[in-house]
Amino acid sequence: MSTDTRVRRPGPDLPGAAAPGAAPPSAALTAALAAADTDRIVFDLTGIERSYDALCRELPGVRVRFAMKACPVDEVLAVLARRGAGIDAAGPNEVRQALRAGVPVGRMHYGNTVKSDADIAAAYRLGVRQFATDSLEDVAAVAAHAPGSRVFCRVLTSGEGAVWGFGTKFGCPPGEAAAVLEAAGAAGLVPSGVSVHVGSQQMTAEAWRGALEELGGVLRTLVGRGIRPELVNLGGGLPALGYLDRRGRPLEPPLDKIFAVLREGMTELRRTAGVPLEFVVEPGRHLVADHGAIRARVSRLARRRKPDGEEQYWLYLSCGKFNGLYEMDAVQYRLVFPGHRGTSGPHVPAVVAGPTCDSDDAYSAEHGLVPVPRALASGEPVWVLSCGAYATSYTTRGFNGIAPLPHHCTSSSVRPAGQRPDPASIPVAEEGSDG
Ligand SMILES: Cc1ncc(COP(=O)(O)O)c(C=O)c1O
Repeated sequence: MSTDTRVRRPGPDLPGAAAPGAAPPSAALTAALAAADTDRIVFDLTGIERSYDALCRELPGVRVRFAMKACPVDEVLAVLARRGAGIDAAGPNEVRQALRAGVPVGRMHYGNTVKSDADIAAAYRLGVRQFATDSLEDVAAVAAHAPGSRVFCRVLTSGEGAVWGFGTKFGCPPGEAAAVLEAAGAAGLVPSGVSVHVGSQQMTAEAWRGALEELGGVLRTLVGRGIRPELVNLGGGLPALGYLDRRGRPLEPPLDKIFAVLREGMTELRRTAGVPLEFVVEPGRHLVADHGAIRARVSRLARRRKPDGEEQYWLYLSCGKFNGLYEMDAVQYRLVFPGHRGTSGPHVPAVVAGPTCDSDDAYSAEHGLVPVPRALASGEPVWVLSCGAYATSYTTRGFNGIAPLPHHCTSSSVRPAGQRPDPASIPVAEEGSDG
């Protein structure tokens, strides 16, 4: 393999160029990254608000409950709450954090089907009155520890078409949902409806079409058995636009088609149920992934020999799987090398890896090599784009002594539209100390 080629640069050093559907990072995000002189993860709150507003326009009348596991950052929860969003919480500590951030408890549900008696009781004490369920055991526990609450039954999906399917951990087969909800009614709970999750970063509209058809069958059975459904929770899975796949090709989810299928499906479900239905979505990564980016550093660009004697470049970054890029096994992130933008210096194909002494902390052999400037020096800044989802929640506490990245929030409301931002003038809200 040639190690000193002027390889084609398919865009990673030009934000947005490598992911046609993705908007380039906003001026505020770019300015905040440029102004950072230490590592951090930056969230563009205005971008998140805009994604929320766009989602509400695409799915009119549908309640949005942000899956906060995707970005449990107070400022993010607060802006979404001010916009009217609710929260899909996966446990009592998430409920507490959302309450502190200003989300009214009436706009929250406990969306995790996996919960202990103590967790149910704690959430109930905090005021939560709506729970996801998928088994008779869980129904009995909710009835005992959250009496009188509303429950919706999660229906299993294959996860086909998603970058991250969920296997069989959550949900019951569609044919069993009615029995679960009947048991809920018999135990004094309110059997309120059904939910589904088609898998995270779902790339096909067909997955939603199939799930909506399954839900239609469940609703027909419920109505036939005298249970009046009120709620259909369409779950998460809505894709982000800025990822590259493992081989470095843009992931281009058919977002418009997905929304069209959802709108048609909801109309059909209303017809099937014959009663007014409330619809909910629980987006996680769709709202935040493309509005978060990491300012990291080059640890080293090294040329090393493989066992067969072939030379290979490795680009070690100051962040990786254990501090911000947990999902690097499934996707590539667009990289920006701000010290080399607009330059045509030689690039070399490299394996990208994080800083720890763990071999999982690297793009796998399946990943294509990433073209990077050959002149990269240790300590130079690198921006990692579209990593705003699940980055903070999957961060280790200090593996190999590497502190979690501090987070900063920026917004574009501080300056008039159309003006070029002065990086130094962008305010950042800070938490924690710089690493
Ligand atoms: C119940 C539930 N809802 C929503 C989500 C958010 O999924 P996504 O980030 O794919 O939108 C998740 C993610 O695990 C989930 O478990």
